[in-house]
Amino acid sequence: MPEAALLTKNLRKDIGSKTIVSDINLNIHTGEVFGFLGPNGAGKTTTIRMIVGLSRITQGDIFINGHSVRTAFREAMCDVGCIVENPELYKYMSGLDNLRMFARLYAGITQARIDEVVKLVHLEDAIRGKVKTYSLGMRQRLGIAQALLHRPRLLILDEPTNGLDPAGIREMRGLFRSLAEQGTTVFVSSHILAEMQQMCDRVGIIHHGRMVTVKTVDELVDMSHSGGVQLLVRTGDNGKALACITELNIQAGMEKDGVRVSTEPARVPEIVRALVGAQIDVFALDTQEAHSLEDVFIKLTGEEQQNG
Ligand SMILES: Nc1ncnc2c1ncn2[C@@H]1O[C@H](COP(=O)(O)OP(=O)(O)O)[C@@H](O)[C@H]1O
Ligand SMILES: [Mg+2]
Repeated sequence: MPEAALLTKNLRKDIGSKTIVSDINLNIHTGEVFGFLGPNGAGKTTTIRMIVGLSRITQGDIFINGHSVRTAFREAMCDVGCIVENPELYKYMSGLDNLRMFARLYAGITQARIDEVVKLVHLEDAIRGKVKTYSLGMRQRLGIAQALLHRPRLLILDEPTNGLDPAGIREMRGLFRSLAEQGTTVFVSSHILAEMQQMCDRVGIIHHGRMVTVKTVDELVDMSHSGGVQLLVRTGDNGKALACITELNIQAGMEKDGVRVSTEPARVPEIVRALVGAQIDVFALDTQEAHSLEDVFIKLTGEEQQNG
């Protein structure tokens, strides 16, 4: 069993008399893209600040590649690259000068390594331009390049997709994938499940300072399907189709452009057979998820009880 890239044991943070996070147990595998998901105020940044040594641990411990953050801080940190909240960049300097300046903080970072990280985050064309002319997505990527300079085995990013457009998020996903393939573990937080679904292998959900669950993205998607499917059936005679489907004791209703049907996936062939048998022309059968991932998230975090 390879050593966990990041392990937290009963991690807890109190600020004043308030417990902000408690019992945080995470086991992040080497080479995975792990999503740390939770609504605003859940405790993501608080946890991450402890992991990267920006905030004192109240209780518990953190191990990075086997090194305790409490007792072997330097060894633990030399393998970590991180951006907490926003990357620190000099806006009036070029991207390249930012990287060169940052590189001086470490021993042995060559121009070749700088070129390598620039290529990795696809900033070759813009790297000589001033950071103030960069889009938000480009700044994030420059921040990631900076965090990667010293070849950390673990990259920790706190809400890197905040404010990014879909294209920026797609770039980020591609970048995480290629990093993971090269053996860098990526730990990334977000409050948006759909983004985590696109970017991550596994997702850990934090809510009110506690871990709710850790699941693979596939498991989360399965959960979203388990409640059944919704179909929009478009036919030559929707009135007749509605009667036909209702006769099967399947829940259906008329919509402007077809018949909406809620059922289990296993009953879909039966519907098609019945319609064809009744000589109704079927033009389209569009499937929609009955339960969105957001529904699953809300179910797991139990928010509907508080808001309902
Ligand atoms: N320095 C602090 N003092 C008091 N409360 C804090 C402090 N920092 C964070 N909190 C509270 O802790 C909770 C978790 O915050 P945070 O970790 O920033 O959440 P997230 O990053 O998931 O949005 C919030 O309720 C926040 O108000
Ligand atoms: Mg935060």
